[in-house]
Amino acid sequence: MSASPPTAPAAPLLSITGLTKVYGAGEAAVHALRGIDLELLRGEVVVLLGPSGSGKSTLLNILGGLDAATAGSVRFVGSATADAHTDICTLSPTDLTQYRRERVGFVFQFYNLIPSLTARENIEVVAELSPGALGADEVLALVGLGPRADHFPSELSGGEQQRVAIARALVKRPPLMLCDEPTGALDLNTGILTLQALLDANRRFGTTLLIVTHNADIARIADRVIHFADGSIRSITVNPERLDPAQLHW
Ligand SMILES: Nc1ncnc2c1ncn2[C@@H]1O[C@H](COP(=O)(O)OP(=O)(O)OP(=O)(O)O)[C@@H](O)[C@H]1O
Ligand SMILES: [Mg+2]
Repeated sequence: MSASPPTAPAAPLLSITGLTKVYGAGEAAVHALRGIDLELLRGEVVVLLGPSGSGKSTLLNILGGLDAATAGSVRFVGSATADAHTDICTLSPTDLTQYRRERVGFVFQFYNLIPSLTARENIEVVAELSPGALGADEVLALVGLGPRADHFPSELSGGEQQRVAIARALVKRPPLMLCDEPTGALDLNTGILTLQALLDANRRFGTTLLIVTHNADIARIADRVIHFADGSIRSITVNPERLDPAQLHW
């Protein structure tokens, strides 16, 4: 994949149909997703809002190939490769690993960096697995952390660790970044820097962003806001324009 300007946001990237997830069985069954139908577009920024336990992380984990659906399908429709229309819910474990490597970048609330590796090394371990990856120093510079490349996670603030985690997700230039409460552990100013790093990736590479948050203010940086409740999409709002994260207050 080459660095290209964001594609017109009308082109679909991911098509989700009837996605259902039930944990457990019988009386103990938890219906985490109750038939989700959703299309994510290339280059769009989508914020997913909803109460605790409504299924947001479950959806992200299935889209990212970290968890298996009970029913339904998830198809990458925006790709020119031969497997473009493969339902990721039917992939073998090997193909699913490849899918995760090539298509998806994950950003979690608590960064999940390897403590014994420096910022640069945390990124290099991912880059080594991905042909065509960017350079570790290049992505660290993109998130404004070039001078911190040789620092260990314990020598970085929470906001800096999160930007290393974004750089790690970004290094393979995935078409889709799944961010589960990326600012959940950060204060306003570091949260803004984190969101700016994500939006920068969106602008430079046309990366589609799906961002889970509890913070309704953050929804204003998105093209579309999905309101989730009890495993279902309750409504979708389209923002007339994206707000720059610097204009947020929370
Ligand atoms: N591995 C699991 N086994 C059983 N139940 C689970 C599992 N993971 C999640 N659940 C249940 O599925 C439902 C949805 O959980 P999920 O983590 O997706 O919610 P969430 O919207 O991300 O919540 P939060 O905002 O608190 O992170 C919850 O009722 C949760 O208890
Ligand atoms: Mg969650």
